[in-house]
Amino acid sequence: MRFSTIPIIAALAKIGAALYVIEDNYPISSAFFDHFNFITGEDPTHGYVQFVDRAAAQSADYISIKDNAVYIGADHSNVATSSGRQSVHMSSVKTYTRGLFIVDLGHMPDSICGTWPAVWTVGPTWPNDGEINIIEGVNQQTRNRMTLHTNTGCSINNSGFYGELITDNCGETNQSAKVGCSIDSYSSTSYGGGFNHIGGGVYALEWTSSAINIWFFPRGSVPANVDSLSPDPSTWGTPTTRLSDTCDIDHHFRNHSIFRSTDFRYHVLR
Ligand SMILES: *[C@@H]1O[C@H](CO)[C@@H](O)[C@H](O)[C@H]1NC(C)=O
Ligand SMILES: *[C@@H]1O[C@H](CO)[C@@H](O)[C@H](O)[C@H]1NC(C)=O
Ligand SMILES: *[C@@H]1O[C@H](CO)[C@@H](O)[C@H](O)[C@H]1NC(C)=O
Repeated sequence: MRFSTIPIIAALAKIGAALYVIEDNYPISSAFFDHFNFITGEDPTHGYVQFVDRAAAQSADYISIKDNAVYIGADHSNVATSSGRQSVHMSSVKTYTRGLFIVDLGHMPDSICGTWPAVWTVGPTWPNDGEINIIEGVNQQTRNRMTLHTNTGCSINNSGFYGELITDNCGETNQSAKVGCSIDSYSSTSYGGGFNHIGGGVYALEWTSSAINIWFFPRGSVPANVDSLSPDPSTWGTPTTRLSDTCDIDHHFRNHSIFRSTDFRYHVLR
């Protein structure tokens, strides 16, 4: 996964009706990695993967600064053995409650068997503090899936967004599959090979007390107010994903770290 152009990840705090100021701008330098903890040990989601620490990731060249971009990759030259392929699992040191989060990516794993990349935010106690999957896909998926997980009592109202509603109940208590509520993008450039073909794009998550909205802007269609870091979501049109009046957002979402990882599916890579 390559984060490119400025800002790679920006977190902005709301100061007015539709006015945001930068709270954190994650830099394009090795200092980028100072903002993250590297999570090692067994993968809680049971992927076919070995998550390594920062020193190991650095020496194996899984993380670096290349071509004025932050590069975060995985082992792509060895045959994976034992518990799986080496990769990195990072979570931001800082936690956030509400805000506007902008992630600019130049590249992600292609839509190929075995890959499972994701960018998400999650609170300390799951599912009580909520989880927001901004980018996620597995195997040959060609369109991005955005998924929210919460405690009981939160659902997606099927209106106000342009995407395909997959499941509407975000509350996990009555779900055995733990699938949460999901919306798929209709855009074939939103994920994997299609995304890479156009040089990626920008994902924006706006999290307020009244709504959680996610937009995707393909490269070439990124609003000027995003590029200039004076973003105004009120000018961006209908989001791809929206959670609003059928969820008490402040009750269900708090203190999120920003995560990214490339996990691998056990059954296809072996
Ligand atoms: C679980 O589902 C049942 C039947 O739909 C409902 O009556 C109950 O309130 C739900 N429980 C929770 C905790 O959501
Ligand atoms: C769902 O959204 C529509 C359109 O905004 C609104 O009219 C309706 O009241 C909402 N439903 C619920 C249950 O909030
Ligand atoms: C976030 O966590 C801190 C403690 O780490 C707590 O004091 C604070 O109330 C939490 N914020 C929210 C919105 O729950």
